[in-house]
Amino acid sequence: RRVLSVTSECVPLIKTGGLADVSGALPGALAAHGWDMRVLLPAYPGVAKKVGKTRVVWQSSDLFGGPASVRIGRSGRMSVLLLDAPHLFSRDGGPYLDPQGRDYPDNPERFAALCWVAMEIARDGLTDGWRPELVHAHDWQGALVPLYLRQHGVRVPSLLTIHNIAFQGLTQPERLSRLRIDPEAFEQGHLEFWGKVGVLKAGMMCADRVSTVSPRYAAELSLPEFGMGLDGVIAALNRPVVGILNGIDLEVWNPETDPAITPFSAARPASRSKNRKALLDRFGLEDGPGPLAAVVSRMTEQKGLDLLAEVLPGYIDAGGRLVVLGSGDPEIEKAFHDAAARWPAQVGMARGYDEPLSHLMYAGADAMLVPSRFEPCGLTQLYGLRYGAVPLVAPTGGLADTVIAANPAALGAGVATGIMMSRIDAGGLYDALMQLCTLHAAPTTFKQIQKNGMRADFGWERSAAAYASLFSDIITEATE
Ligand code: ADP
Ligand code: GLC
Repeated sequence: RRVLSVTSECVPLIKTGGLADVSGALPGALAAHGWDMRVLLPAYPGVAKKVGKTRVVWQSSDLFGGPASVRIGRSGRMSVLLLDAPHLFSRDGGPYLDPQGRDYPDNPERFAALCWVAMEIARDGLTDGWRPELVHAHDWQGALVPLYLRQHGVRVPSLLTIHNIAFQGLTQPERLSRLRIDPEAFEQGHLEFWGKVGVLKAGMMCADRVSTVSPRYAAELSLPEFGMGLDGVIAALNRPVVGILNGIDLEVWNPETDPAITPFSAARPASRSKNRKALLDRFGLEDGPGPLAAVVSRMTEQKGLDLLAEVLPGYIDAGGRLVVLGSGDPEIEKAFHDAAARWPAQVGMARGYDEPLSHLMYAGADAMLVPSRFEPCGLTQLYGLRYGAVPLVAPTGGLADTVIAANPAALGAGVATGIMMSRIDAGGLYDALMQLCTLHAAPTTFKQIQKNGMRADFGWERSAAAYASLFSDIITEATE
């Protein structure tokens, strides 16, 4: 069975966040269930080189203002379809931002073009005869596929997966014709969002089904605190949003074989301390009896790192240490640079994106901090679990679905895997950090918590089965 996945990023080709890990892992996970998934992705600079030999399977002389082609190739075991459209994707900078960190002004057109091509592939097939039975679109960048399918009467059903409802692809109605959107769709309310065009909303209303990346976030989305203005749309959908937890790639994220670290395992955790030492050295920190906590994150409002900056003095006073890797909001970055300058032996900050360093952080830290205000699934707590860095998380979304909080019941039963904030504010985070210090000072309990996490199963197996049966249901319902 054939499915076309439409995404703006995909591991190991291009990544800014968890969407890439997920879209890159799904094809392999679903192959085990008999699904032939091809991943349609823009050919950003550098991506084509990683794919190697390709051949053209689709062409157009005018895709939103320039010539374009789709080339098929392989990345590992994954079939990728690279959308080569130099006028849209050959740029200095990242997939969404220019080198100065500003959105490209034509982002709506760039990803509309990606969706347009997906629609044409669903309608006409590729020149090698392959045509999907289902389209799986991710986030706002893929959200125009369901609308285009409907607009052109293409009877291929679609699933839209929301990885983050904070990014909605909002733009001005003046752009409708450039986006090749039928003005009627705007008038019917499919797109209109407080006077603007809301691409994610259109996808939600036109897709056959909508899913998100954890059961808890699926439930939260219909609440005003989490729906970001789309809670009403969610509540009015014919079918409830399905929550399927993300898995992690157990081959890439394997502490026994990871080339970026000194190997260790749940059965032989002792060599883990070499990674801890390497991590302290890397950031020039002194060791001490307290916990070494780590953050690997985009620095945005979502991630709650401003709360961490606020309570840091109390945590340092209690003997804690902290290493941070990430970039984003200049104010949050500055708060951690300032902290590193103030406590050079206790706090380290590395700005930027560094895959190998992130692995060392999961492998060497005692704890991973994820105090997010909302978190659709979250992957850093999962990597922390797998690598023995005890996650300290906010009680929301996928964080709440994946961590067993060290409350008295869980500790008594010996099943705790992490620490959960009682509430999402500075006080809740401070209390959780104090619990981390207390648990860390009781080595037998702490080691048990680490071991429980390392033995938990977060592979794709269960979730891949859930996607496979959702795909089949959607196709069956569409042909009834
Ligand atoms: P989100 O997708 O919201 O950013 P996730 O927790 O789902 O959050 O995924 C984040 C992914 O990006 C993880 O794989 C994490 O290791 C990685 N990551 C985030 N920031 C960095 C960074 N600065 N360097 C390396 N990897 C990072
Ligand atoms: C988004 C969410 C994150 C999730 C990721 C992959 O970026 O912020 O919580 O894990 O997508 O689904």
